[in-house]
Amino acid sequence: MKPQNTSSENASSKLHSFLEKFEPFIKMPGGKLQVQTTDFFPVATSEIVKSLDGRGDLADTPKPSGHISVIDDLSKWIINASEEDKLAAQLNLPRPPAGLHHVPGKYPIFYDFLNLDIVLNELSLAGASMQGRFLDFGCSTGRNLAVMNRAFPGQFELFGVDPSGPSIEWLSENIEGVTAVQSEQTPPLGFPDDHFDTVIAKSIWTHFSPSAAKSWFEEVSRCLKPGGYFFFSTHGPHDVASRIIRDIPRPKYERYAGHPNWTRDEFLVAIAEGLVAEGFFFKAFKEVGHQGDLSGVENPTTSDWGLTFMLPKFVEGLLPNDLSIVRYDTARTGSRHDAYVVRKKS
Ligand SMILES: C[S@@+](CC[C@H](N)C(=O)[O-])C[C@H]1O[C@@H](n2cnc3c(N)ncnc32)[C@H](O)[C@@H]1O
Repeated sequence: MKPQNTSSENASSKLHSFLEKFEPFIKMPGGKLQVQTTDFFPVATSEIVKSLDGRGDLADTPKPSGHISVIDDLSKWIINASEEDKLAAQLNLPRPPAGLHHVPGKYPIFYDFLNLDIVLNELSLAGASMQGRFLDFGCSTGRNLAVMNRAFPGQFELFGVDPSGPSIEWLSENIEGVTAVQSEQTPPLGFPDDHFDTVIAKSIWTHFSPSAAKSWFEEVSRCLKPGGYFFFSTHGPHDVASRIIRDIPRPKYERYAGHPNWTRDEFLVAIAEGLVAEGFFFKAFKEVGHQGDLSGVENPTTSDWGLTFMLPKFVEGLLPNDLSIVRYDTARTGSRHDAYVVRKKS
């Protein structure tokens, strides 16, 4: 498939070569770029739907099934249900008010069943058990933890950390059963060694500079129990392909550090060249105001937070000796991010 909307032939041919070179990392069933992740088991949503089945006051409750359509069914049910029915189903959390951080999912509701289920599916396939101490690193206002809490009552001890004070405050006030702690932008976390069975970090290593990525890997490893599992997502070649072929996502290119007139083509070519030459590309966000993710963080530092792309070999080189990759797949969460599960040595 040819890249579209490129302004110069030179850039176009470079991007075309990128797509060819990284073909094994780009999911193209039938020659078309995969735009939606569908091959996973809806781990948490199935549990929630099972718990709703047979309740007379929830006439439109979807039927339990291992098929991912339960995610659409449940999300649509929440959109249309009365406040009373949502309360009875314990699915009544509103989206945080404007000004607080929240990553919107496919539906205009707080819960993002789709993304969490992909994460849990990857963890299950890697061998992680669905119990124990569970940390969402960079949890924002807690959309993942809210689903965890609702799907697996009493099964996990849930924790969330994020450097945004207002996000953590909202989470603590609105989601019961979660220990939410405001963290620093740099390690360490205030947890003891060998504490967690599972850690997840969705859309976090998509933003760290290589040095921050490395030091946070070391810190997560310190906090993981021996034999514990860690899921994280990165931007990889499939994500670049989506930007080349579909123009999605389309950031404001002029906002990247040192490049006031940064164009789309220059930006994409720089990522492609970075991945080929060094296995990574990182651009720090120029100013905090340009990156909504950090808007709630007090005195934020942006030199180690920006837009990051990494190849598996590069990721491997950043991992401490006691973490090894047990699963890797492309185009998973957000339908674009690469997913990794690493395990700490027993
Ligand atoms: C793209 S959002 C992802 C939020 C969440 N993981 C989700 O899937 O909804 C990035 C989050 O990372 C947080 N963050 C920024 N710097 C961080 C750091 N150094 N450590 C942990 N989280 C950080 C931001 O405050 C924000 O909540």
